Amino acid sequence: MIEKGIHISEPKGKLGVLIPGLGAVSTTFIAGVESIIKKHHLPYGSLTQMGTIRLGKRTENRIPKIKDFVPLADLEDLVFGGWDIFEDNGYVAAKKAGVLKDSDLENVRERLESIKPMKAVFDQKYVKKLSGTWVKKGKTKMDLAQQLMDDIQNFKDKNNVDRMLMVWCASTEVFIKPESVHQDIESFEKGLKDNHDAIPSSMIYAYAALKSGIPFIMGAPNLSVEIPALRNLANEMGVPIAGKDYKTGQTLMKTILAPGFKARLLGINGWFSTNILGNRDGEVLDDPMSFKTKEESKLSVLEYILQPQLYPDLYKNLYHKVRINYYPPRGDNKEGWDNIDIFGWMGYPMQIKIDFLCRDSILAAPVVLDLVLFTDLAQRVGMKGIQEWLSFYFKSPITAPGLYPEHDLFIQLMKLKNTLRHLRGEEPITHLGLEYYD
Ligand SMILES: NC(=O)c1ccc[n+]([C@@H]2O[C@H](COP(=O)([O-])OP(=O)(O)OC[C@H]3O[C@@H](n4cnc5c(N)ncnc54)[C@H](O)[C@@H]3O)[C@@H](O)[C@H]2O)c1
Repeated sequence: MIEKGIHISEPKGKLGVLIPGLGAVSTTFIAGVESIIKKHHLPYGSLTQMGTIRLGKRTENRIPKIKDFVPLADLEDLVFGGWDIFEDNGYVAAKKAGVLKDSDLENVRERLESIKPMKAVFDQKYVKKLSGTWVKKGKTKMDLAQQLMDDIQNFKDKNNVDRMLMVWCASTEVFIKPESVHQDIESFEKGLKDNHDAIPSSMIYAYAALKSGIPFIMGAPNLSVEIPALRNLANEMGVPIAGKDYKTGQTLMKTILAPGFKARLLGINGWFSTNILGNRDGEVLDDPMSFKTKEESKLSVLEYILQPQLYPDLYKNLYHKVRINYYPPRGDNKEGWDNIDIFGWMGYPMQIKIDFLCRDSILAAPVVLDLVLFTDLAQRVGMKGIQEWLSFYFKSPITAPGLYPEHDLFIQLMKLKNTLRHLRGEEPITHLGLEYYD
């Protein structure tokens, strides 16, 4: 439990942002931050930078910006570092990712060039479509974890940062089921020493972060920091964790639309979603085992929002299908189609078609920024373990055991803002509003 209106330590000094994966999302995030600092662009899409929060009654007219309400790190104080399986610096990686125009990249070239990835912990067993050259060697997974912890310490010393956190922007790994090796920290550490197969690279990074006392955010759908061994480690070390799978594109649209259909008691027979995308993420997801990890993450959303067990007449026959097709000509500019078969009064059928010409990394970058700033806030407040109030940003929010995740974007936003109000000793807003009519 976090006390109401507690003291929040000020974000003094530099915040080190350590990123496994210098690809499309992370370079777009870093380039954007730098261009916002240089005033080339406004921070579109970022709640921490542009969002407001209402306090008290509607008649009070107290609506500060979120960044003026809670103490968040300044963009100028972020220091970036990371790991990748390719040696390319941030500028070359961003060029190859092909998300941003050359003119935008030139404006921030120096900052991007200064980011030289450290050698990655990587095993092709877990990402079949990639084969890297810039990879650490170690006899056991525990040796590799130790090397990551050394990297973290060196980064801290070299950059003179005050606080740090790790945010996963690397690839989606193959589907892994929870096993006994994940259940407690003793089994997990033994598994690291024995090179257990059910410990993929992302778990090694998460372990190294938590052992170093820094928060970990999982941006891909990988089974990682939510396993009991790591969740307990986070609580023991007193650090926040959050995940998983950034909510962007088609799933963002689903969690905007589905709550609306349910609110108006419109039935749904089928929801077919298909995508074409041609970036490296698309190539990785072309492997059926990595796709399975993503598919699980994408499919669960409707089930939780629509609650067919409570509304069998409306949703029990819903056929939900998700497809991702790797199509290189599109690069990062994904196209996502949805066909939704709904029905209303007297059972009459209707159809909704969506054609979303989106840009994945453009949608993901502000999500990464907000997660970095809010997780750092959580750390300074002393909030440890799972940060469910950050579900707003994830396709598969991690929750306490036995608790189903909340997927409705608007409930998630209310939860996030009420958490901020609570931290500052303000009353949560329930929208009851009867007092206006007394
Ligand atoms: N863009 C979005 O909207 C979005 C949404 C949700 C989740 N994601 C996830 O975010 C991740 C990044 O997406 P992206 O489009 O930037 O992909 P990307 O392929 O462009 O970048 C991933 C980078 O990670 C590197 N990498 C792979 N394994 C690594 C390891 N073990 N250690 C260090 N580096 C490693 C790759 O070499 C690559 O450079 C993916 O897992 C993706 O599924 C993206």
